[in-house]
Amino acid sequence: MMASKKAPHATLALPTGETIPRLGLGTWRMGEDRRRREAEVAALRLGLDLGLGLIDTAEMYGSGGAEAVVAEAIAGRRDEVFLVSKVLPDNASRQGTIAACERSLARLGTDRLDCYLLHWRGRHPLEDTIAAFEKLVGDGKILSWGVSNFDADDLDEAYTVAASFGETITCDQVLYHLKERAIEHAVMPWCEKHKVAIVAYSPLGHGTFPGPRSAGGRVLKEIAELHHATPRQVALQFLVHRPGLFAIPKASTPEHATENAGAGDFQLSDVDVERIDKAFPRSSHYRGLPVL
Ligand SMILES: NC(=O)c1ccc[n+]([C@@H]2O[C@H](COP(=O)([O-])OP(=O)(O)OC[C@H]3O[C@@H](n4cnc5c(N)ncnc54)[C@H](OP(=O)(O)O)[C@@H]3O)[C@@H](O)[C@H]2O)c1
Repeated sequence: MMASKKAPHATLALPTGETIPRLGLGTWRMGEDRRRREAEVAALRLGLDLGLGLIDTAEMYGSGGAEAVVAEAIAGRRDEVFLVSKVLPDNASRQGTIAACERSLARLGTDRLDCYLLHWRGRHPLEDTIAAFEKLVGDGKILSWGVSNFDADDLDEAYTVAASFGETITCDQVLYHLKERAIEHAVMPWCEKHKVAIVAYSPLGHGTFPGPRSAGGRVLKEIAELHHATPRQVALQFLVHRPGLFAIPKASTPEHATENAGAGDFQLSDVDVERIDKAFPRSSHYRGLPVL
């Protein structure tokens, strides 16, 4: 049996020069039920202990409830976390973006976000949202900004607006998992060309992970056994094996956080990658960027 190696690319350097972990922690559906709060905080704190040092949240999640959960999880350890939140498109006017960011900072109990994203494109001109992002950077309230659910043509536009400020987009956060590889058609080549990071959301399929009896599930299990790993760890490692890619699985139990953190502990071989590629082929035609 082949010995597993520690992945050399468990972290990635951003254009800002900062090095951050490629595997982080999602928070969608957190902060919705007080009875689950303690477990959610504990799962996030354990995830941080285990090196999942990027937390992704949004003003939308639990109508601010997820940010309140994150605040509790990062209390006393803000410097260990690369913290990302998102503005809702309806709030993304020039003044609205700044006000939304200030509300998020207050809920999160911090004075800065490491990255602030436009959650998806809405009615407000990109020029206004990006002008607000730049103001927030100037004021030290955010250290960088990016977008989410942007297809290649939207990215082109945002990139041009960013360039007019002498800036660039840090990342595009998009749907990407083994059964949904549409970003490989247009978004991924665009991001690789322009050196914009990709953050894979719903990397475990948002509850649709391939079962052990499916053809693809059997391939994952065989590869997992080679690396003393689990099928989910193999799937996560497959997503982040490309340059410039991050993934933010959401885990609300200690077991799930521990398993997901272990996805950074080994490296897939070229043969493994080829087998996964064949077992979960991307669609042959591009029908636009899928979103959740
Ligand atoms: N920008 C956007 O528009 C957008 C859209 C969707 C998601 N996101 C972000 O991406 C994050 C991740 O996506 P997601 O939450 O949609 O889905 P996901 O991470 O693909 O899947 C989460 C589901 O998988 C379960 N799970 C996690 N680890 C597991 C493990 N090791 N074994 C078994 N089950 C496991 C979770 O259960 P438990 O909760 O019980 O642990 C949860 O039900 C979100 O939380 C959010 O931060 C962004």
